[in-house]
Amino acid sequence: MTAPRLGHPDLGLGLGLRSKHYQYILDHHPDVDWFEIISENYMNSAGRPRQILDEIAARYPIVMHGVSLSIGSSDPLNFDYLSKLKRLAAEVNARWVSDHICWTGIAGRNTHDLLPVPYNEETLSHIVERVQTVQDYLERPLVLENPSSYITFAASTMSEEEFIGRLVCQTGCGLLLDVNNVYVSCYNHDEDPLAYIRRLPHESIVQFHLAGHTNLGTHLIDTHDGQVVDPVWDLYRDVCQLTGNVSTLLEWDAEIPEFPELYAELQKAQQFRAGECIVKRSETIPPKSNTRRATVPHPSTLTPIEYE
Ligand SMILES: [Fe+2]
Repeated sequence: MTAPRLGHPDLGLGLGLRSKHYQYILDHHPDVDWFEIISENYMNSAGRPRQILDEIAARYPIVMHGVSLSIGSSDPLNFDYLSKLKRLAAEVNARWVSDHICWTGIAGRNTHDLLPVPYNEETLSHIVERVQTVQDYLERPLVLENPSSYITFAASTMSEEEFIGRLVCQTGCGLLLDVNNVYVSCYNHDEDPLAYIRRLPHESIVQFHLAGHTNLGTHLIDTHDGQVVDPVWDLYRDVCQLTGNVSTLLEWDAEIPEFPELYAELQKAQQFRAGECIVKRSETIPPKSNTRRATVPHPSTLTPIEYE
């Protein structure tokens, strides 16, 4: 399988733009290579946040990351949403526009959640068609992120990696590889994260995400509320060796620290990118409980999850 090589540049190391840090960024112009914005936070805003974004966009490259495209939904694509997305992308000169391989709503209702899809031929053809429509409308390749996952579907007939590879190959879309999501999902499903990554179309990876997660013993939750753990740094170093340097973003969305702490965490990526840091994975993977049944207070999924 040969996926198309996308011409996205390595922007370096970036941070998610959060309102808590607006003033610090405006006052100090920190040495961050680029910022990622949540698209929906600015699509409908002409107020102060949007003015600040314009100031920051004049100084730093901006990448747009959405949470409401709902590419996997059976609802029709929302062209009002897409028109706002396209306009914002033009106005901030977004280097690329990303979202998630998921669905977020049905019957016109937005759950504000990133819900999983079964990986089978029907889902693939459905999402391929929608990605092509979105790309034609936006007049640019879409970039899609691998989800963090807590369940598998009986209706799935292929692995997530195969699904992603075929999606990328058939649409020419890019892949936003969330390295923490890979680790979380593989931990939860007893899979090898490096083997997962080796099976992906590396030439289509245009961005990495790094983030912290929460270990509940039986499973990991993608909480974005702390530092990146050592096994994820290890995995990041390994994938950088497979792909070369790719634009990398640190996500930290809960219990957000002051900017200097966030910046210091981001700077760790430089050494791992260069392959200079090694964390012994066998010493750092936390032990997993044998108990597979758990009720999870998932921060972004209101419905409790039960393992078989
Ligand atoms: Fe992510």
